[in-house]
Amino acid sequence: MNVDKGYVECEIPAGINIVSEIRRLAKEKNAVILAHYYQRPEIQDIADGIGDSLALAQEAAKTDAKIIVMCGVHFMGETAKILCQDKKVLVPDVSAGCSLADSCPAGEFEKFVKANPGYTVISYVNTSATVKALTDVVVTSSNAKKIVDSFPMEEKIIFGPDRNLGNYINGVTGRNMKLWDGACDVHEKFSIEKILKLKEENEGAKILVHPECKAPVRIVADKIGSTKALLEYAIKSDSDKFIVATESGIIHEMRKKCPNKTFIPAPPEDGKCSCNECSYMKQITLEKLYNCLKYELPEIEVDKETAEKAIKPIKRMLKLS
Ligand code: 13P
Ligand code: SF4
Repeated sequence: MNVDKGYVECEIPAGINIVSEIRRLAKEKNAVILAHYYQRPEIQDIADGIGDSLALAQEAAKTDAKIIVMCGVHFMGETAKILCQDKKVLVPDVSAGCSLADSCPAGEFEKFVKANPGYTVISYVNTSATVKALTDVVVTSSNAKKIVDSFPMEEKIIFGPDRNLGNYINGVTGRNMKLWDGACDVHEKFSIEKILKLKEENEGAKILVHPECKAPVRIVADKIGSTKALLEYAIKSDSDKFIVATESGIIHEMRKKCPNKTFIPAPPEDGKCSCNECSYMKQITLEKLYNCLKYELPEIEVDKETAEKAIKPIKRMLKLS
């Protein structure tokens, strides 16, 4: 089977109902399909569970299924594999990377850690397994504040790789953690001018912002939080209009949960687009998911030594969450 491009390249049999075939294959093989909120709507709709990075790790850790199909990006599959080393973990397109994880090459990060002895290393989940293996505790955007707060104020901390999340956590915890200079291309692109214009045109709209966004965008936020926290805020809020400054895939679930509310995607600085999409997340399609389940490929592999090291900071995060 050819998986050279990162996914199974095989024609879909003519005349099949791909949605019911995916569900049939998942049942037959005792596979659980998990999807991040940034996935295409049809992938979110077919999944057994959807969630933010923390929820996906928690789901993976507790599933009884024999196979985990992670519809997300590569590091999400790796996290599931590290937590479930005896299970088969599949990602329908393993070439789906992450600009934030890529902004932290393990070799460079190791030098940074070594140059700062005595520091506790806190890494965002958007990192490779090798970076996690150099880490004391992993965090996601859902639990970063809580986990940082669990350390004494005098603790010397390295926080990587997202400079925006790190900067935000420094602000809300009153710390001065040493930050790795990485970022997510998608969340850094939002235009503050276009967001403020949308706010002017939509009186009473609340601005929802992911902490991976730059400071000027965070400053105008009514709510800063992980994708799940933004969703929960929108559900509970009395407001009926929201400007959403995170990857626009979350709007699918927001509209499902709040059919009478209006969600306006925040636009990026460049181009003519009215929303901001993560091209990596959108690499997963129904066709790739179907072939992935059918052929049980491509599989995520993490070498045993790395997995044994990386599981400790992930488990520590799950315990502290
Ligand atoms: P959360 O899932 O923690 O909101 O993070 C967003 C993200 O960029 C995932 O890649
Ligand atoms: Fe990575 Fe950014 Fe895409 Fe999330 S949205 S997967 S951080 S590139």
